[in-house]
Amino acid sequence: MKRDFLSIADWSSEELSDIVELSSKMKAHPESYSGALRGKSVALIFEKQSLRTHVTFDVGIYQLGGHSVYLTQVDINLGKRESIHDVSKNLERWMNAVVVRTYAHQSCVDMGKYMKVPVVNALTDYEHPCQAVGDFLTAKEHLGDLKNKKFVFVGDGNNVCNSLMLMAAKMGMNFVAATPVGYAPPEEVVKLSREAAQKTGAKIEVVNDPKAAVRDADVIYTDVWVSMGQEAEKEQKLKAFHAYQVNKELMKLAKASAIFMHCLPAHRGEEVTDDVIDSSQSVVWDEAENRLHSQKAILYTLVAGM
Ligand code: CP
Ligand code: NVA
Repeated sequence: MKRDFLSIADWSSEELSDIVELSSKMKAHPESYSGALRGKSVALIFEKQSLRTHVTFDVGIYQLGGHSVYLTQVDINLGKRESIHDVSKNLERWMNAVVVRTYAHQSCVDMGKYMKVPVVNALTDYEHPCQAVGDFLTAKEHLGDLKNKKFVFVGDGNNVCNSLMLMAAKMGMNFVAATPVGYAPPEEVVKLSREAAQKTGAKIEVVNDPKAAVRDADVIYTDVWVSMGQEAEKEQKLKAFHAYQVNKELMKLAKASAIFMHCLPAHRGEEVTDDVIDSSQSVVWDEAENRLHSQKAILYTLVAGM
């Protein structure tokens, strides 16, 4: 049966560990997988902008011997020119997989339901699972074993935070989200994360004080305060988040060995200062590189065996 990669919650700890492990192998020996998608085509559908996700899927599919077709709203106007159902029923006749970035998470879920080929969530308003897989590869490369280590997400309880919290729970890493009142991650995601954490022994916390949260942290992670699609809330959010900037003072409260992570794009001077993102503690370019390897592993897992 086909599988979709829509939410970290849908995949078991073992399966996710296997994908991270495979990402690492593909990074070390890309040539061993160069024919995995030979003769296969993958659609890349983007309702919103992207640098990393677009480029790394495109390059990754090429490196696996496959072919990608990039489609934006200008091309297909998903849900307006043609319904999501009808677009899906067309694509499944030509494509071996579909990678899709939508505003509404439900659009991505619906495509998975309508199509007989795997659908990969390339970011929705609810989750960014590909980011989380790449980031845990990066965290492992820098920290080794993640058990009993502490991952602190400072800022907005958004799509990236949701996927990272679920991933930490499944990988057995302690996770703290430090968010302003009113911007905590959704209750449902916290509940699913805590359920998964019961099996792995991870501790999942949601707090409001960033300074207390980052004490003893091994990872400090942040993301933009205003995500794509939230532009109307910009003024209100900038006010709510000003105490949640990751700067040198905040970094000093974490372990001296702590790494700084950010999914990018960064709004320098807002959620992070230049002296943090450009410091020797920052691993943001490794994260960007690892998107390539981990997405190849996700596609390999979903498509190559079919
Ligand atoms: N981190 C990330 O997904 O970046 P893009 O929005 O540029 O794809
Ligand atoms: N939270 C951000 C992540 C961008 C990769 C957004 O949704 O815009």
